[in-house]
Amino acid sequence: MLKESMLFLARQDAIRELAQTNPIAHRVARRFVAGETLDEAIAVAQTLNRQHISVSLDHLGENTSDAREASGAADDYVAIVERIQREGVEANISVKLTALGLDISDQVCRENLSRVLRRAQEYGVFVRVDMEASEYTQRTIDMVIALHESFENVGTVVQTSLYRTPEDVERLLAARVRMRLVKGAYLEPPAIAHAHKTEVDSAYLRLLRPLLERGVYPAFATHDERLINATIRIAQERDIPRARFEFQMLYGIRRDLQTRLATAGYNVRVYVPYGSQWYPYLTRRMAERPANLIFVLSNSLRG
Ligand code: FDA
Repeated sequence: MLKESMLFLARQDAIRELAQTNPIAHRVARRFVAGETLDEAIAVAQTLNRQHISVSLDHLGENTSDAREASGAADDYVAIVERIQREGVEANISVKLTALGLDISDQVCRENLSRVLRRAQEYGVFVRVDMEASEYTQRTIDMVIALHESFENVGTVVQTSLYRTPEDVERLLAARVRMRLVKGAYLEPPAIAHAHKTEVDSAYLRLLRPLLERGVYPAFATHDERLINATIRIAQERDIPRARFEFQMLYGIRRDLQTRLATAGYNVRVYVPYGSQWYPYLTRRMAERPANLIFVLSNSLRG
């Protein structure tokens, strides 16, 4: 119920406007968002790199149906790639197709994404296409597989909450596309998605083995220690070296675990979001964990 309410709030423009201009909300957002500017995000990336943690930079911004905005988002991603190269930070980027024009047309989106991929390929930067709500799943996977034929530096994300995912995983494995495995952050109808958290977790567990055994440098993105331990156990049983996969977590969540895994010699990457459009991202994090909402409310009262 709380998850539904938070995800509903994420879609309300008036509330978003209010939150994004509110100084207390800004302060609270800083726990999960690196800042509003690329300079701030790069500084966070450098700090994490010093702790042997790599980064995926996400310039926050979601759906647009304006072609100029979508092209502007591609320009921004290109600028991030150039900055990664210039600063020598250990980072890749995460992009959202709806920010690149998927709501306008596949063609507009493909052209924008190709422009980003071309520059990223020149600089040896990997580009992860985040997975959004289920209405975009098919088009996202199709586009990534098609572009992967020209750009090996593109990969995507699969969500264990969806029934369709085992089939998508097989398709992506066959195309040798890099995958990030997540539980799924969007509220989906019961006809297409597991209704209970335990089912989503079991589905995650079932996909560990195929990804570890046959995946191209898979990324296990979760803060769930049980699943992280299962990943480590399966990798050890199958003699899969640590260098062949990575763990990913979100900025500001389970820093203790991030450091522990990095210290133990595992590859760890932290997803670092930044930008002025942080509100929908923040509400998704609230939806995952009611304690975050309490944290926000208590900060607001203190402010
Ligand atoms: P779960 O929600 O079961 O949490 C396990 C434990 O982790 C909790 O008990 C708590 O300790 C901690 N925790 C989890 N969330 C927390 C939070 N918000 N605040 C504080 N503690 C928290 N989703 C998607 O649909 N598309 C995508 O492209 C991505 N991309 C992505 C990248 C990366 C690097 C990560 C880590 C996650 C995503 N996600 C995502 C989000 C993902 O689908 C999922 O919603 C979150 O990771 C939360 O689920 P967990 O796997 O952490 O498990």
